[in-house]
Order: sequence, then structure tokens, then C-alpha cells
Amino acid sequence: MLVLGFESSCDETGVALVKVPEQGAPQLLAQALHSQISMHQAYGGVVPELASRDHIRRVLPLTREVLSQAQVSLQDVDVIAYTQGPGLAGALLVGAGVAVALAAALEKPTLGIHHLEGHLLSPFLSADAPEFPFVALLVSGGHTQLMRVTEVGHYEILGETIDDAAGEAFDKSAKLLGLPYPGGPHLAKLALSGDALAFTLPRPLLHSGKPDFSFAGLKTAVLTQVKRLGDSPSDQQKADLAAATQAAIVEVLVKKSMLALKQTGLKRLVVAGGVGANSLLREQLNAACAKRGVRVHYPELSLCTDNGAMIAMAAAMRLQRGVATLQPGQAGAGGFE
Ligand code: KG4
Ligand code: ZN
Repeated sequence: MLVLGFESSCDETGVALVKVPEQGAPQLLAQALHSQISMHQAYGGVVPELASRDHIRRVLPLTREVLSQAQVSLQDVDVIAYTQGPGLAGALLVGAGVAVALAAALEKPTLGIHHLEGHLLSPFLSADAPEFPFVALLVSGGHTQLMRVTEVGHYEILGETIDDAAGEAFDKSAKLLGLPYPGGPHLAKLALSGDALAFTLPRPLLHSGKPDFSFAGLKTAVLTQVKRLGDSPSDQQKADLAAATQAAIVEVLVKKSMLALKQTGLKRLVVAGGVGANSLLREQLNAACAKRGVRVHYPELSLCTDNGAMIAMAAAMRLQRGVATLQPGQAGAGGFE
């Protein structure tokens, strides 16, 4: 069975083709991605209207590219999957509209996939795929959650952010430091030459005893420091503040992940979402997990941020286990979230 997947929830247009074998793990045959980052950079963030229009421009050429890479014709595709939500409504409509139109023309079913399930299952695209059950740390631009995952479709939220997401904390702090959008990777790069101990920043809810998060206070503390530094902070001061911000976010993520592992008794951690690309987070999670005999899995670096492969993979894993309701040539019943 061949699954074609579309991702268009925010500022990346992703298309991918995954093969579902009779037995064994689904395989990624081809994928193509277009990032709109350079287009939105001038505005300091994603402009929804521009995002939707660009998805429209990119989605069919990317689909052709994927089919040609895999040497497959559109008629060979069995199921068309797409990101159902959450995300920007106009952007989501492009992927859903193309998926539904293709499905209607080809008389094939569609399958709407939750964007976060795509992230969650993206480590299954790597050679060292995890086994169920595991604790998942989902850290993206919009979400920060710890989950107990027992199987595909069986997700229990153990804790989540009560305000900003971890990626948002990176992005907002980076903006305060005058860094371009999206701030996370830029802040991480600047932090390399900084001293994290030069500033004392809060770690909200660190000792709450629950796997929950709060990052809004950290952003306010960064703003206070930026104001204190005045109009022309030195490069070193900016690097120090970036390092201190990153250290605060990472310490909270690591501590809460360890708490979730302890509370569930599970010995496997899966990290997913854009912030999962952060090197300091990976370094500190590796060290903390090694100490506790926990195996930790990450998606490949290129698959941490949004992509079509994770949507096609999530659909393939659902179909393989019979936990999907296919819709005949029309959008999934769940609608947009
Ligand atoms: O998962 P994703 O692509 O989109 C959402 O579904 O939100 O995550 C994007 C987020 C952004 O906040 C971005 O700044 C952050 O992931 N990010 C990073 C890094 N790479 C991406 N944050 C910290 N360090 C990184 N290396
Ligand atoms: Zn995402």
C-alpha cells in the first residue's frame, strides 16, 4: 500500500510517499519540502495570508517531485493523508483541499492526521526506531507536552505548558535579543559563545512535583534583562543572555522529562518537535537518561521541524494497525481543530 502525505499547517509545505508493507515497518520512499522561512523573515514571524498563498504555489510541484523521485504514478497511490490540524486555518485548507481533490479524482480515500501525532511518530522514520511503550516529550513552536504513549492512537497527556510553549520561549526571547525569525536555532547558535552563568533567570514550576511547564515568566525575565542592558548591549552580553535563556529552558525540559519517566516507570523517552533539534537539550537529555538506564530516541535532525514524511508515516502506522477511519474521497470527519 502507498500513502501520499501532505503537511501545510504553518510555514513548511511538505509532501512524502510512504510504503506500507504487508509485514514490517513502513518505509519512506520519497519526500520534498519547501520552507517559507526566508519569505516570513522580513515580518519577524509567519504571515498567515502569505503562508496560504505560498502553499498553493508549492504543493503540486512538490507532489510531482516526490512521485518522480519514487518513480511512482499518482494512480499507484492508495491513500492520501494530510494534516488536519492544529495549525493556521488557511494553510491547512491548502493541504486538505489538494488531498481531497486528488482523492476525489482518483477515487481513493483520504486520512486526516493530527499534526502532533505526526511529530510524535517522526522518530519511527529513523533507522533506530523506538518500541512502545514510551514517554514522549513533544516540544514544538506551539506545544509542550509530556505523554505516555502505549501504542499508536493511545496517548495520555501527563503534563503540558500552562502558558507559552518551549519553542515560543526560544522564539520570543530571540526576538527580544534582536535575532531573526524563527529565533530558536539562532538563539542556540548565539548561545555557543555565551556564558550561561552570567545571568540568573527563573525556572518556573521546576519544583512543582508535576510534569507541567510554564515559560511566560522566563520571557518577562529576559525582557527585564534586555531593558537593563540598554540600547547597545555588547555581543558578549547578548551571547551570555542567549546562553542563560537556553540553559533555563533546557533544564526545565530535562527535569520534567525525568519526572515523567519516574512517575510512569517507563525506560524509554522519545523526543519530537522542532525544539528537539536543540543540541544542548539532546546533550543534557542523553546524560540524564544514561544515568537512569533510559533509552532516548530523537527524529533525524531534518525531521524535527514540520515535514510531509511524518504525516505520511503517522497515516501508515495507523493504517497498519487498523486504527484509522478512511474517508472515501472527502475530508476526515474530525474537521479542523
Ligand atoms: O515543530 P515545529 O517545526 O513547528 C511547530 O509545530 O510548532 O517547531 C518549530 C519550533 C520553533 O519555535 C523553532 O524556533 C524551534 O522549533 N526550533 C528550535 C531549534 N530548531 C527549531 N529551538 C531551539 N533550538 C533549535 N535548534
Ligand atoms: Zn510542527
